[in-house]
Amino acid sequence: MSDLRIIILGSAAGGGLPQWNCACVNCDKARRGEIPSRTQSSIALSADGQHWVIANASPDLREQLARTPALWPTELRKSPIKGVLVTNGDIDHIAGLLTLREKTPFDLYATAEIHGVLADNRIFDALDRSLVPRRTVALGAAFEILPGLMAELFAVPGKVPLYLESGEVDTALEGEQTVGVAFSAGASRALYIPGCAALTPALAERLEGAGTVLFDGTLWHDNEMIEAGLGTKTGRRMGHMPMSGEGGSLDAFAPLGIAQKVYVHMNNSNPVVDPSSAERQAVLTAGWTVAEDGMEIRA
Ligand code: MLT
Ligand code: MN
Ligand code: ZN
Repeated sequence: MSDLRIIILGSAAGGGLPQWNCACVNCDKARRGEIPSRTQSSIALSADGQHWVIANASPDLREQLARTPALWPTELRKSPIKGVLVTNGDIDHIAGLLTLREKTPFDLYATAEIHGVLADNRIFDALDRSLVPRRTVALGAAFEILPGLMAELFAVPGKVPLYLESGEVDTALEGEQTVGVAFSAGASRALYIPGCAALTPALAERLEGAGTVLFDGTLWHDNEMIEAGLGTKTGRRMGHMPMSGEGGSLDAFAPLGIAQKVYVHMNNSNPVVDPSSAERQAVLTAGWTVAEDGMEIRA
């Protein structure tokens, strides 16, 4: 039995599937129940099945918790959720913090920069600091996030959140605004990287030979949103490397020898969300799992 349990609470990128204002092929199919719907990006992790940490708090968190028995309250006002960690300041990763405002203690972990973004948005003061202490995490410093579960943050290429963009936007910032997390419990190890603009040599080195990697599956093709008439930006401009094509994750991961590769954070424009698509078949053939809401992964 492995030590590390990971529950996919939400497998979609910002907007979810279906997205409220979108009538693309995938959103229409999801509304009709022809393909599985997906809530926004979040996972839960535990080393003992008793204490849990949430990585990224999506706007759909309330619904995600309600349908996940492992995360139900254990006593009148007591939750198995002991911590929440956020990997960037994007709305799909922080808005769910507001769902957790009902005076139950947990630790809130982020880099100093992401804590700064939260502090600048006073609505998050709804999380009482005496009950929800802000724990600032330095890059590269492993810490015990739960009994028996270690976490270490590392920089991955990305950008500031969309709502903080101004002027020329650097989509390859490597610092505290977009991070991945290396979780480990006993011999189990899992890397969680829901947003990543490019696979740098340093990141490839970190991933080499990893047991389990949950990775940015936002787009199939860099231009898919433009080609489908859904937007004007490429995936890379949004801070996400695509799955396919030159520099895509399918090719980039092939030589890395990773035992379990899982795509998370799929955008509704991505054809892999349709189980009958050729693109889904292609990623399965390449040895990837496409996360679904509610799926449990053992690392
Ligand atoms: C992203 O991952 O690119 C963001 O979640 C976009 C958004 O804020 O909707
Ligand atoms: Mn996102
Ligand atoms: Zn759509």
